Amino acid sequence: MFDIKKFLYKSINDINLSQTVKDLNLVKSKYLGKKSLFKQEFFKIKRLENNLKKNKLDCLNKLKLKILQKINLHKKKLEKILILDKICKDKLDISLPGRFVQNGGLHPLTITTNYIKNYFSRLGFKFVDGPEIEDAYHNFDALNISNNHPARDTNDTFWLNANLLLRTQTSGVQIREMKKHNPPIRIISIGKVYRRDSDKTHTPMFHQLEVLVVDIGINFSNLKWIIYNFLHDFFGKAIKLRFRTSYFPFTTISGEVDVLNEFNKWIEVLGCGIVHPKVLSNVNIDSNIYSGIAFGIGIERITMLRYGISDLKYFFENDLHFLTQFK
Ligand code: DAH
Repeated sequence: MFDIKKFLYKSINDINLSQTVKDLNLVKSKYLGKKSLFKQEFFKIKRLENNLKKNKLDCLNKLKLKILQKINLHKKKLEKILILDKICKDKLDISLPGRFVQNGGLHPLTITTNYIKNYFSRLGFKFVDGPEIEDAYHNFDALNISNNHPARDTNDTFWLNANLLLRTQTSGVQIREMKKHNPPIRIISIGKVYRRDSDKTHTPMFHQLEVLVVDIGINFSNLKWIIYNFLHDFFGKAIKLRFRTSYFPFTTISGEVDVLNEFNKWIEVLGCGIVHPKVLSNVNIDSNIYSGIAFGIGIERITMLRYGISDLKYFFENDLHFLTQFK
């Protein structure tokens, strides 16, 4: 004989004893599943006469509803306990290292450029820019570079037409600046220059720093003072320097400076000199009153020496193994 009250009581008891959702599902199929007493009772009633059948079916449906409600309630309770348990057990270790974020860094040539700008701005120099497509007048003529000078040759210079070229040096900026402003002048310029040259220590494009001072009473000791101080600041006091006489068409007393590298080899890093009076007169500056000093440095060259970089190609390869060393 199927006792509804007892059945309900027993099922509620089992529901309350369930510790997990899985247990609860088992209880559900035990009391309401295909092989349950409930299902058997259900089929028995189907065979009863109509008036009796309705009454009994109502009772069974109510029973089923009660059990299902109870199961749902208990399920919610179990889920809540599960979450609370997880919160209590999960520990947040704030001492663990965070996830590493890979930041970009500055290219070594940019580091050198920034360094130079910073250094010379502290000495009161103004930074000026010049065009990379230059005309023959600013790149050669005004700098006292004669018409038959080999630097003008197509083997050395990228000519765009009979007059325009990719500048071979930043010295043209000197002319532009002296034409625009009267002395005192104290400028630096940094930029790309182009030459038909390509090997381990030469690339068709490289960067130069140009420094120019024009004022009354400027002389060779001023030039040496600036160069020595800058190079000692850039390379450190221990660096060995050598001053040599040289020749440039745009300077009268001309010199070059070498730096002793890690293999005990002298490497040329800059050209310098007293601005030629012809250059001053080309830009209408009276060389009886004013004098000038100037020098030009290869940015790649001094960066390679400073960091011990053996090949120019590293600057252009975008290899992260190389670049991340300079962060
Ligand atoms: N323009 C020269 C070069 O490209 C470097 C240079 C030499 C610049 C003497 C100067 C200078 O300002 O006075 O080799």
